[in-house]
Amino acid sequence: MKRRSFLTAAAVAAAPGAEAAPKLAVDGGTPVRDKPLRAGYWGSEFYDDKERAEVLEVLEAKSPFRWYGPKTPRKVLQFETEFAARMQTRFAVGVTSGTAALDCAMAALQIGPGDEVILPAWTWHSCFNAVVLAGGLPVCAEIDESFNLDPDDIENRITPQTKVIMAVHLQGNPCDMDSIMAIARRHKLRVLEDCAQSVGASYKGRPLGSIGDIGIYSLQLNKTITAGEGGAVVTNDPELFERASRFHDLGGFRPPHQSQLGQARLDWFFGTNFRMSEFTGGVLLAQLRKLDKIVAAVRANAGFVHDGIRDLPGLRLRHRPDPAGELGTGVFFDFSTKARCDRFLAAMKAENVAASRPGGSVILPTLPHVVARQTLHPAWPAFQTPRGKAIRYGAESCPRTIDILSRFSGVLMDPKFSKRDLEDVVAAIRKVHPAVSS
Ligand SMILES: Cc1ncc(COP(=O)(O)O)c(C=O)c1O
Repeated sequence: MKRRSFLTAAAVAAAPGAEAAPKLAVDGGTPVRDKPLRAGYWGSEFYDDKERAEVLEVLEAKSPFRWYGPKTPRKVLQFETEFAARMQTRFAVGVTSGTAALDCAMAALQIGPGDEVILPAWTWHSCFNAVVLAGGLPVCAEIDESFNLDPDDIENRITPQTKVIMAVHLQGNPCDMDSIMAIARRHKLRVLEDCAQSVGASYKGRPLGSIGDIGIYSLQLNKTITAGEGGAVVTNDPELFERASRFHDLGGFRPPHQSQLGQARLDWFFGTNFRMSEFTGGVLLAQLRKLDKIVAAVRANAGFVHDGIRDLPGLRLRHRPDPAGELGTGVFFDFSTKARCDRFLAAMKAENVAASRPGGSVILPTLPHVVARQTLHPAWPAFQTPRGKAIRYGAESCPRTIDILSRFSGVLMDPKFSKRDLEDVVAAIRKVHPAVSS
C-alpha cells in the first residue's frame, strides 16, 4: 500500500524540501491513488429492495398506466403528492423527462411566437429548445462565477417582449434567487426555475423549484434521484398547474388532477403526451423517499473536501450564493487562466482523482445551429420577427461566460465515496493545487 500524503498548508510551509512539495504523478511521482476515482450515478447507486418492490407491485397488478387499469393505479399520483410535499409546493405533475417538464412549463407560462425568455448562456440544450419549440425567442445572458445566470446581466437583456426569466440551478448550485426575483418583480416577469441538475438543493431554506412561479426537475440517470428517465413540474399557482397538467396529457384535465383544484378553470386546449408510466412512478417513489439521505451524503462528502482544503493559499472557489443549500455536486476552483486549469486537469488525472471542467451543459450562443438560426422550418415565427433577427448569438454575445468556463475546474462528488476516497481527493488537491497555481 502506498504512503498517503495529507499535509496541511501550515505543514507545507513549515517543511520545505521533498516532503513539502511532493513530486506530482504527472512529473513521474507516485500517484495519490492506485486506481482512478470518479463520481458515479447517484440515484441508481441507492437502488435496493424498495425500488424492486415498487416495480413488482406494478407488474403484479398488471396496471402500468397512470390513470386506469385492472387495479386502480396509484404510483404516479402518490409520487406527485410526495414530490409536491418535499418541494413545499401545492402541486406537482410527473412527466417523462426534464425536457418534457420544460415544454409543459412553456405551455403553462403561455410562451408563444415572439415572446422572449432570458436564460443563461451556459445551460443544457433542452432549455433553449423548449423556448424555440414554443415559438419563443431565447435570449442568452452571461453567467457569473457561480456558473449560473448573472443577475447583473439580466436587465441588459430585457425588452418589451421579455416574458420569463429561466433561472437554471446548475451542477447543484442555487442561483442568486433574491436578486433574480427582485428583477422579475420590478419588470413584472415570471420566473421558471430549472432544477434538473440540483434536485434536492435549497436556497435560504426553501427547496429549489418553490421560489419562482414554476419549477422543473429532471429525474434522468445523471440526476440526484432517477428512474432512468423522468421529470416533474411544480408550482403553487392553480392556473399554471392546470395548464401544465393539460399540456402533458393532450389538453384534457383528468379527475385526479382536477380534484386538486375542486374544478377545472380552463377549457380544453392543445397538448401532447408526456404521461409518466406507473413503473417510472414506482421507482421514483422509492427514490424520492431516499432523496434526503442522498443529499445529506453528498453534502457531507463535499463538506469533508471543503474542510480539508480551506487553508490552501490562493484558493478561489466557485461562488455559492447559499453554501448550506448547495448539493455539493462538485468542488470547483478558479485557476485564473486556462493554461493553469489545463495543468490541474492533467495533474489530477495522473494522481488518479478525476477532475473536470464545469459539465453537463453547453455554451448555447456559440452552437452552430443557434448561430445559423436553423430551426424546424424556415418560416418558424420566432426568428422572422424584427426582434428575432436583431438578437445576437455567437461567442461575442457571452465573452464572460466563455472566460469563466475556461478557467474553472474541479472534482465531482459522489454520495457513496468512502472516507478513504475523500481523503484521497483532499490529498490530491493539496498536492496539485499549489503546484499549478503559481
Ligand atoms: C439544466 C437542464 N435542464 C433540463 C434538462 C433535461 O432533462 P432530461 O434529460 O430529463 O430531459 C437537463 C438534462 O440534463 C438539464 O441539465
